[in-house]
Amino acid sequence: MPLFERHIFVCTNQRPEGSQRGCCDPEGKRALQSMFKAALARRGLKGAIRANAAGCLDQCEHGPTVVVYPEAVWYGGVTANDVEQIVESHVMGGVPVERLRIADECLNAKSCAHRVPNEVRVPEPEKQHR
Ligand code: FES
Ligand SMILES: [Zn+2]
Repeated sequence: MPLFERHIFVCTNQRPEGSQRGCCDPEGKRALQSMFKAALARRGLKGAIRANAAGCLDQCEHGPTVVVYPEAVWYGGVTANDVEQIVESHVMGGVPVERLRIADECLNAKSCAHRVPNEVRVPEPEKQHR
């Protein structure tokens, strides 16, 4: 297997509670990324496939967000229970997990049923300095 045949980018961005867009890692523990790393390590794929922590991938409303390259397959709403299936089916078998894919009309749109467009978004509250 060539080096780094696939890259899994896992959003580990954290925003304050109540943030309008939400975030993929509210607890800031990188738990999902750790699970991907462990799932790869268990299969002896540590040197061949990477599971990287990513900053915000701008799909916050569809998160937790994971994107797998080189296919650029975007997954949303990924939970701990989905890690094994993504690794087995997509990373090992080359077959994306369709049920978790972010819909095209969500991925490539300024707004969708889940996302408020920038223009009408209420600014985040100022940080309180006391
Ligand atoms: S916080 Fe994860 S995509 Fe923005
Ligand atoms: Zn959407």
